[in-house]
Amino acid sequence: MIWIIIALIFSFVLTIIVLIYLLSLIIGLIWARGVPFVSLSKKQLRAVDKNIKLKPDDKVVDLGCGDARVLRMFEKQGVKDLTGYEINFWAYLLAKIKNKLLKSKSKVYFKNFKKVDLSEYNVIFCYLLDYYLNSLKEKFDKELKPGTKIISHSFSIKNWHKPEKIERMFVYRI
Ligand SMILES: C[S@@+](CC[C@H](N)C(=O)[O-])C[C@H]1O[C@@H](n2cnc3c(N)ncnc32)[C@H](O)[C@@H]1O
Repeated sequence: MIWIIIALIFSFVLTIIVLIYLLSLIIGLIWARGVPFVSLSKKQLRAVDKNIKLKPDDKVVDLGCGDARVLRMFEKQGVKDLTGYEINFWAYLLAKIKNKLLKSKSKVYFKNFKKVDLSEYNVIFCYLLDYYLNSLKEKFDKELKPGTKIISHSFSIKNWHKPEKIERMFVYRI
């Protein structure tokens, strides 16, 4: 009898987890206009770490932070002020759990970064798709202060400043 109860509880918990995952996937994709939750691989992360050296007093934001691995990597470089915004609830949950387990002080919010004033950050990291990046041009022009660095992984913003290409990153300076 006890085994039947344990099996029932286990299947219930599993069903809830699968439901959260599937709903997050579908709703997240709709909200993010097709930008999926795909994290940088360990190799890609190492390349970012090798090529982008930040200062402890930088104010860093990851637009669509996924499980916040980029923030934790910059934290290891000594950066203190790190924030991520994520719209996929599953990715947000993973970020919160991993930050807790790995004792990271980076802040992660379940929020659309388009509704956030970006003027307080001097380093912007993003790994989005090109059409999505292009829709951010106006926001960047309006909110980013001179001296802000934008690191866009894999995709560039068309006809907008001249980026420096470092491995697979496009680095812009306002
Ligand atoms: C390709 S993943 C990158 C994850 C992480 N930055 C990394 O490099 O490992 C892009 C993430 O951006 C999120 N995203 C897209 N648009 C967003 C928005 N407007 N607000 C918050 N998150 C968004 C997606 O849900 C997705 O998880």
